[in-house]
Amino acid sequence: MVCVSFNLLPPASCIQGLALCRFKLVTPAQLSRGYYGALCLDTTNLSQDVLHSSSVMPDIPFLPFSILLGVLGILCVGFTVYWSHHWLDGFAWDGSAQMFNWHPVLMVTGMLVLYGAAALVYRVPLSWQGSKLPWKLVHASLTLTASIIVVLGLVAVFEYHNVQGIPNMYSLHSWVGLLAVLLFFCQWLMGFSSFLLPWAPIWFRALYKPIHVFFGSAILSLVVAACISGIIEKLFFRLSKSATPYSMLPTEAVFGNVLGMLILVFALLVLWALARPAWKRPDVNSEDTQEPLLHGAR
Ligand code: HEM
Repeated sequence: MVCVSFNLLPPASCIQGLALCRFKLVTPAQLSRGYYGALCLDTTNLSQDVLHSSSVMPDIPFLPFSILLGVLGILCVGFTVYWSHHWLDGFAWDGSAQMFNWHPVLMVTGMLVLYGAAALVYRVPLSWQGSKLPWKLVHASLTLTASIIVVLGLVAVFEYHNVQGIPNMYSLHSWVGLLAVLLFFCQWLMGFSSFLLPWAPIWFRALYKPIHVFFGSAILSLVVAACISGIIEKLFFRLSKSATPYSMLPTEAVFGNVLGMLILVFALLVLWALARPAWKRPDVNSEDTQEPLLHGAR
């Protein structure tokens, strides 16, 4: 009965659908977390046709959204490169201040833009048809590339600190940043061994999957905190002794603030897209989603 109600409703009115079901079917005692879970499960099993048949509320197409996100991602990296190039004396790999400049560029590229793109791979409607395996490989490759870039970004800042005799890991930024990186690597290892390699049992993959999804969003939130605190810290370092301090908002400060806002908007859009029910793969609980790399035919 719950499913019938949902089939008559477009996905965009999922909330409305829940309200209807609550009104019709659920007693106050049934308003438990488990009951909501069951309703949500049903909505994910709707066919793609039903998901796109909304005539009541206009749906947001994924393609223009991903183009917007791509432009924002390029702007985030472009602004970081421009800041380092224009105000911070460019790049080098020799333990100098220019070596530090690789740090923000590589962290924004790897942990924000590539990681954000990797998180959204399964939201591409094309990935909903056929085997999930190629998309798993795209997801794993993007996160692997991101992790190599992130290691380089950390080498750049630690090497700079060591050569210049600056203490390591004293700031809140570095603590939040390192937590994000550690979780990111745990996430990669757990995801790889659970979803791509054959030895994880189905029950374990089913149990771990929501945890993996939750930590994907949590890590992205930590990345935003790390990027914004890093930008603020760098602006304070640079402008505290300047004739026009941060509080007087010189051009560099405006630029850094705009970069922070771009990073925030990019991450919020990724988190929003991840949470949007209409963009979730409809057969999210089918056996195919649990197909490991070496058992492609299972
Ligand atoms: C996810 C992104 C980022 C992560 C995970 C991260 C991580 C770190 C870590 C672990 C350190 C400590 C290095 C050490 O103690 O030797 C550090 C230092 C630093 N980072 Fe980042 N960072 C990120 C993004 C940024 C961005 C975008 C900026 C902007 C300029 C930035 C600016 C700094 C600065 C100024 C330092 C040196 C001072 C300090 O140790 O706090 N970081 N970062």
